[in-house]
Amino acid sequence: MPNIIIAIDGSSSSGKGTFAKKIASCLGLPHLDSGAVYRAVTLYGLRSGRIAWNGDIDFRALQEDLLHEKADISFVVDRRGDSHIFLGDDDVSTEIREMEVARNVSAVSALPFVRNYVDELLHKLGSKGCVMDGRDIGTAVFPNADLKIYMTADPQIRAQRRVEQMRQSGLEANFDEILKNVQERDYMDSHRSFHPFKMADDALVLDNSHMTVEQQMEWLDGILQERFGLKLL
Ligand code: DC
Repeated sequence: MPNIIIAIDGSSSSGKGTFAKKIASCLGLPHLDSGAVYRAVTLYGLRSGRIAWNGDIDFRALQEDLLHEKADISFVVDRRGDSHIFLGDDDVSTEIREMEVARNVSAVSALPFVRNYVDELLHKLGSKGCVMDGRDIGTAVFPNADLKIYMTADPQIRAQRRVEQMRQSGLEANFDEILKNVQERDYMDSHRSFHPFKMADDALVLDNSHMTVEQQMEWLDGILQERFGLKLL
């Protein structure tokens, strides 16, 4: 396993998760989805009542819970290479994709104490080599990552991808509601004051609006060969 860190940042449903997972599996590296951790914190907040039905957050109680490891978040990679995220013993990999979580996650992830908690967890999990995707991996979590990729795609295409992903997981999905959520999160994630979503100066840009995953892999294969002598395909 190469001891390298590949940081993939991108907007919601830009395809970064699928791409990151595929690269990780080809290179034999763990794939870590940082958005899943923010979603798990949000789900914990909703389940524990730290986040009320109207979106109000009990900041102090949530901070205390995280400090005392009450959320008990962990990642497990199964034999097929799929990552699962847990709250305690409960595999919440599907529940974290629900709309209620999506509606609250940008507000939760804007809180500095949440970001510090998640950053620490990500460092513990990924510093020996990984492919990590998120919004601030190349700028804040691993600013010295060996390779940084910034992924983007047209919002309509991203919303359609999210609809398909949710339906495949057996969740209800309404295109207009999802498009609105995707656009609102783009705005909130890039306008928050602490670790906003932005492109690292040294990131390579990949607009995959009209690219298949195979084409994206070919694009990266050349870069990995040239920079690290690694072959993907
Ligand atoms: O990638 P995603 O849509 O599953 O991410 C969910 C939310 O988590 C997203 O709206 C912003 C937040 N997030 C973040 O702030 N920083 C990251 N590194 C990853 C996700």
